[in-house]
Amino acid sequence: MKVIITGGAGFIGCNAASRYLQQGHQVIIVDNLAREGVQKNLEWLRTQGAPAFERLDVRDRAGAEILFRRHADADRVLHLAGQVAVTTSVVSPREDFEINALGALNILEAMRLAGMQAPVIYSSTNKVYGEMTDQGIVERNQRYAYKDLPAGVSEERNLDFHSPYGCSKGCADQYFIDYHRIYGLRTLVMRQSCIYGYRQFGAEDQGWVAWFMIASQLGRPITIYGDGKQVRDILFVDDLLDAYDAGFEGGDTVWGRAYNIGGGPSNVVSLLDLLAYIESRQNRELPRAYADWRPGDQKVFVSDIHRARTELGWAPKTSSSQGLGLLFDWVSANKELFIEAAPIAV
Ligand SMILES: NC(=O)c1ccc[n+]([C@@H]2O[C@H](COP(=O)([O-])OP(=O)(O)OC[C@H]3O[C@@H](n4cnc5c(N)ncnc54)[C@H](O)[C@@H]3O)[C@@H](O)[C@H]2O)c1
Repeated sequence: MKVIITGGAGFIGCNAASRYLQQGHQVIIVDNLAREGVQKNLEWLRTQGAPAFERLDVRDRAGAEILFRRHADADRVLHLAGQVAVTTSVVSPREDFEINALGALNILEAMRLAGMQAPVIYSSTNKVYGEMTDQGIVERNQRYAYKDLPAGVSEERNLDFHSPYGCSKGCADQYFIDYHRIYGLRTLVMRQSCIYGYRQFGAEDQGWVAWFMIASQLGRPITIYGDGKQVRDILFVDDLLDAYDAGFEGGDTVWGRAYNIGGGPSNVVSLLDLLAYIESRQNRELPRAYADWRPGDQKVFVSDIHRARTELGWAPKTSSSQGLGLLFDWVSANKELFIEAAPIAV
């Protein structure tokens, strides 16, 4: 197969590219290398095969059209390129919109104009459901939890975009669904919860699981925004890649559908839980500072993954405790990768 991965040098993209290269497929990585550290992912991929690298900014409409026309014979497309931090989106909402919303439209249009038949998956986010202020939240054992939503948030929940990032990702999410409705493109939307795993250049404002592991091992200061009791259902990256494959192979009924993809209610971790885990592994107390809540930060987000289970036959295989162990060991063994990449928290 020939697989195009936009954002292919990023955390999720390079894990996907690595998997496809190991399976003997041809991989086209499309990225502008905007994210600090991802050049190292590209170098790593080059040790595993010969991915083609196409340097493209997804805001470049003409460039995207030329590229997809050249690769119109691709079998699969993953659109992962994006501006990924809520905080950055608040500082630069136009840039965030241009990359996430317009960039996604550029990819859809490039595929449509090239007459492509390949299925395309869009990496959306749980942020499309907003703050859900009507949803009762309680505190149990130093963690927030939904008062009465044991299975988590399902795709039936109203969309409610919060923060410029929520708006730009949500806009792209809807365009992907609509391009199936209107133009028959074989699109699929994955509303991802918090994904963690190898080769994630987590930073303070995005990728908190990796960031806490990296910061603790490099001796960088750790700041908790809010009280640390906020929880997410976390998902190990390999399980996400399984969900992508299940989607691509899901048959004609899945096109134009959106799926919540996360660890679900059995893989819920709070910031304080994660710090306690790292402390237990390092056998020391981690110094930390507290700061105000950040805009759009939900106290709880837990995905209901029932639709993906029943329609895609997918379920996470890596428990949060296994996955955290894998990531901790990997960061310990690869500290040198992060010495320049991890920005110093201020
Ligand atoms: N990691 C998560 O927990 C998570 C959760 C929900 C959704 N997502 C979405 O998944 C996708 C991949 O996330 P990730 O965690 O791998 O992030 P990442 O930052 O590691 O990867 C994103 C990649 O996109 C590239 N990029 C940024 N702007 C670009 C542009 N204008 N043109 C071309 N390339 C550009 C970056 O250089 C980077 O390689 C993103 O769209 C993100 O919004 C991630």
